[in-house]
Amino acid sequence: MREKLELLGRRRAESELGGGAARLKAQHDKGKLSARERLDVLLDEGSFVELDRFVVHRSTDFGLDQQKYFGDGVITGHGRIDGRLVYVFSQDFTVFGGSLSEAFAEKICKVMDLAVRNGAPVIGLNDSGGARIQEGVVSLGGYAEIFLRNTLASGVVPQISAILGPCAGGAVYSPAITDFVYMVRGSSYMFVTGPNVVKTVTHEDVSMDELGGADAHGATSGVSHFTHDSELACLQAIRELFRFIPQNNVDDPPRGAGSDPRDRRDEGLLDVVPDNPNKPYDMHEVIRRVVDDGEMYEVQKDYAPNILCGFAHLGGHSVGIVANQPAVLAGVLDIGSSMKAARFIRFCDAFNIPIVTFEDVPGFLPGVSQEHGGIIKHGAKLLFAYCEATVPKLTVITRKAYGGAYDVMSSKHIRGDYNVAWPTAEIAVMGPKGAVEILFRREIAEADDPRAAMDERVSEYTEKFANPYVAAARGYVDDIIDPRDTRPRLIEALDTLRTKRDRNPPKKHGNIPL
Ligand code: HXC
Repeated sequence: MREKLELLGRRRAESELGGGAARLKAQHDKGKLSARERLDVLLDEGSFVELDRFVVHRSTDFGLDQQKYFGDGVITGHGRIDGRLVYVFSQDFTVFGGSLSEAFAEKICKVMDLAVRNGAPVIGLNDSGGARIQEGVVSLGGYAEIFLRNTLASGVVPQISAILGPCAGGAVYSPAITDFVYMVRGSSYMFVTGPNVVKTVTHEDVSMDELGGADAHGATSGVSHFTHDSELACLQAIRELFRFIPQNNVDDPPRGAGSDPRDRRDEGLLDVVPDNPNKPYDMHEVIRRVVDDGEMYEVQKDYAPNILCGFAHLGGHSVGIVANQPAVLAGVLDIGSSMKAARFIRFCDAFNIPIVTFEDVPGFLPGVSQEHGGIIKHGAKLLFAYCEATVPKLTVITRKAYGGAYDVMSSKHIRGDYNVAWPTAEIAVMGPKGAVEILFRREIAEADDPRAAMDERVSEYTEKFANPYVAAARGYVDDIIDPRDTRPRLIEALDTLRTKRDRNPPKKHGNIPL
């Protein structure tokens, strides 16, 4: 027995070495952690339980039979984040560049299957040269097995991807199907083809960073959701996310641990919205003053910043915040902001997280590039996402709720559960000036004093429509509230909605306008 145990000990030790000391040093020299070090940061201390550490590949071509490494380039298993079970895989760049073999894929598929069966999230740490070239189609098949599992697990357990190195070719598609993608400046890359192929095909000169670096995907393409300056910050941020999200689609999200009083009123909310309706203000300020301890875990901060999405706690309830941002493009809805918010709303709905909407929106962005880019189709995604969501939906109209955007932003008509307006709200088909120009163009042009005629009609319209009372008279908003009471009112509503039951008609699935 002792001899056998010794052999086991030696093999276990060997399995921890990855591709060897030289390659490990090269990894560290690039400022990157090893696959195991990453798991140490991500998981509660001592909680990692490894599976399949003795798996090796079965290839013989190109001399691969002479190169076998225990684990075959990916470390898989389960561990805990704040005591909660998560399944993980961490790709090891020191073994064949973290490239994906048949055996490597089987290991990932095993933890994904376990995660779904046991109702726990999956976190993938990606650092890979893509398909293992020597294995050919077998490797491609392995990828497809993962894509299938990503798709079937979508909406069942949260799936998180960290990109901590290259991620090229079809390998980008597994992270793209997952719920949240984290990237690190200077060391994460995602592209379908790298700069060399781009140069050959389109004659464009582009660097790795410009093409598929963390900022390119965080701010321009919207492929990633979080951008960090270091791996440590990135891995710690993933741990933080778990303060807001549940284990699976039949679990409740965790309650916040803050001590912010539930009945806290906020005097500062009286002064956030400027008197002049054309002046911008920062919606972060409203959110900060309302949510527990002023803290929001913002999603896609740098992408389409005219809408804000993020997680927060309100009286301990975990909520998803969606908010128009008047400080950027007046908070208008465009293609990017519609897609960003739609995907976020669908995550919240899939995982039982109530949605709190702060609304100040002048409408959809007009223009040829928006129309030709499909603002109709993309705006419809947002509408679809809000309409189909059956989680509690709360809406606070702080100022403008104009036109189609009034309908879209979680209005009463699309099953808003608790819709309130501040006295500063303007709920109308369009802003007073635009409306008067259409309705009274001739009258104003023919008036002795067109300017005075215009002003008179604008104030008439403003008094009649640019306020929340017409909507309140019909019950389209449940109440007009003192802005200072926003927090306690939302918390009360969330309490009542804890037992909300609502369902969509049975169907195979809807057909969201993609
Ligand atoms: C096998 C690979 C590999 C791969 C890297 N390696 N990629 N082995 N298959 N795909 C090995 C290298 O031979 C090397 O082995 C070690 O990993 C480190 O690679 P380097 O090139 O030295 O590292 P670096 O300079 O940092 O460059 C990293 C890289 C580059 C940018 C990822 O290796 C690269 O371009 N690799 C190929 C990427 C690619 O085209 N993959 C296929 C994409 S298509 P030694 O023994 O020297 O340490 C695809 C299809 C998926 O993935 C389809 C799904 C639908």
